[in-house]
Amino acid sequence: MALIKLEDVSKLYGFGDATTVALDEVNLVIEKGEFIAVMGPSGSGKSTLMNVIGLLDRPSNGRYMLEGRSVARLRADQAAKLRRDLIGFIFQSFNLLNRLTVLENVALPLAYKGMPVAKRNKQASAILERVGIQSREYFYPNQLSGGQAQCAAIARALVNSPKLIIADEPTGNLDSAGSRLVMELLSEIHLSANTTIIFVTHNPELTRYASRVVYMHDGAIIHDEKTAFGSVALRARQVLYTLPVKTVEDDLAGVSALMKAIPSKPPIRRKTRKHRKVSDKNKVAR
Ligand SMILES: Nc1ncnc2c1ncn2[C@@H]1O[C@H](COP(=O)(O)OP(=O)(O)OP(=O)(O)O)[C@@H](O)[C@H]1O
Ligand SMILES: [Mg+2]
Repeated sequence: MALIKLEDVSKLYGFGDATTVALDEVNLVIEKGEFIAVMGPSGSGKSTLMNVIGLLDRPSNGRYMLEGRSVARLRADQAAKLRRDLIGFIFQSFNLLNRLTVLENVALPLAYKGMPVAKRNKQASAILERVGIQSREYFYPNQLSGGQAQCAAIARALVNSPKLIIADEPTGNLDSAGSRLVMELLSEIHLSANTTIIFVTHNPELTRYASRVVYMHDGAIIHDEKTAFGSVALRARQVLYTLPVKTVEDDLAGVSALMKAIPSKPPIRRKTRKHRKVSDKNKVAR
């Protein structure tokens, strides 16, 4: 039985002339244990697809079966319970609460379940150890690097042992080191617990981590490709070499390459210092 089955799923926003077709009769079957990258231009419907699969949004038309069950008739509270018990979400902006410590953030889903504080802190601490940032458990989110913040968000997503992780551009705000940290952590989770993972990315390089890549355009799936672990997907490779891919990560990679090209001792800085010293002396003399 497939974990996820979408049949002719459409999602429309707005009315009349202002209607946007965010998803256009999408058919998609995802088996348990797949590690899927979703790619496509801005506005192609990737987040809408994640929201429908993650029960954050309902399709306008079509059928969605999750673990063989149609989710169309679920009441809002039933959908919320299923979402809590089955799915972990990771977002580009981490979505950590700045007034809570890392430990409290991670323990939050357990607090909603009514678990006593000592028990939930113990469980949260064990998960922080698993994601490699236990030493930061009493830090606040703004004291973490981007990569660490996303690891904390992943820990929070893991706290209910989800069968499915949905990550919408999890590396969108990270530099290349942070991206690698996060993708390797997701791979480790995928391998150790056979967790199904769907992640959205604009970075063709990250298809290396996926076992399958789904490409979207104008709300439709235009290509679906199985890939070997460790190699960039074929279609993504074409994008990599034909289009100027612009992500924060690329920008940072470009910046660090530029820094390397700058001579080690810029003469201007030394001159400025000398000049300042002289003028300071003059001030004292006067
Ligand atoms: N709540 C909404 N109300 C109206 N239109 C929406 C809403 N959410 C999304 N859309 C529209 O649906 C289309 C698909 O949007 P979506 O956010 O799924 O794209 P995306 O592929 O995730 O883009 P990006 O790469 O920029 O995140 C877009 O045209 C968008 O403007
Ligand atoms: Mg999006």
